[in-house]
Amino acid sequence: MSELMDIILHRRSIRRFETRQIEENALQEILKAGMYAPSAGGRQGVLFAVCQNEELNKRLGRIKRVNSNPKMATAASYVSREQPSIADDPNLKNAFYDASTVITMFAPKNFLFAVDDCAVAAENMMLAADSLGIGSCYIGAGWTAFADPYGQMILRQWNIRTDYYAVMQLLLGYALSGDKHPSAKPRKDGGIVRV
Ligand SMILES: Cc1cc2nc3c(=O)[nH]c(=O)nc-3n(C[C@H](O)[C@H](O)[C@H](O)COP(=O)(O)O)c2cc1C
Repeated sequence: MSELMDIILHRRSIRRFETRQIEENALQEILKAGMYAPSAGGRQGVLFAVCQNEELNKRLGRIKRVNSNPKMATAASYVSREQPSIADDPNLKNAFYDASTVITMFAPKNFLFAVDDCAVAAENMMLAADSLGIGSCYIGAGWTAFADPYGQMILRQWNIRTDYYAVMQLLLGYALSGDKHPSAKPRKDGGIVRV
């Protein structure tokens, strides 16, 4: 099996992180992987806002948690037992799970492919992170982290163009030492249709 396929199969969402920051060289590699992702029309419109400020990430993650209303997990239906999400554990108050690096990906408002552009970049970055021994988690509905006066003030502080919006966040950090790497849920049947 190719090394790339090994990484694709190994990558899992990580939500339990060490407090120590990721290495700068690794961050640069991960960002490069995002920058070299495909983009609609080759426009390269995604803006990657990298925040490594612990207090700020915590505060935005808490705002996001307050603004999220996930369908809570049941015994039969859950996101992850090994790396519980905010839908699995109501005690989790930070939707960014205390990750040391939070990258908010912004894209133009009213652009048909804004989400697509961020998603393909994020997948490149998650695979690059896995290859470097760094855990990651894709966080959808990025704008909910900024949906209060504090979040709005942060957008101004970061000089985010007002015609851009926060599509998603990508969390990065070292998986909590001692945690077993999570296993993938079995793949569902019927997802591939040969036509
Ligand atoms: C579009 C999208 C949005 C997601 N949003 C969240 C989120 O808000 N919070 C979270 O903990 N995980 C989020 N995830 C991660 C998924 O829960 C995770 O990919 C899924 O449970 C499968 O697990 P795996 O990534 O380990 O294979 C998101 C993933 C995608 C693709």
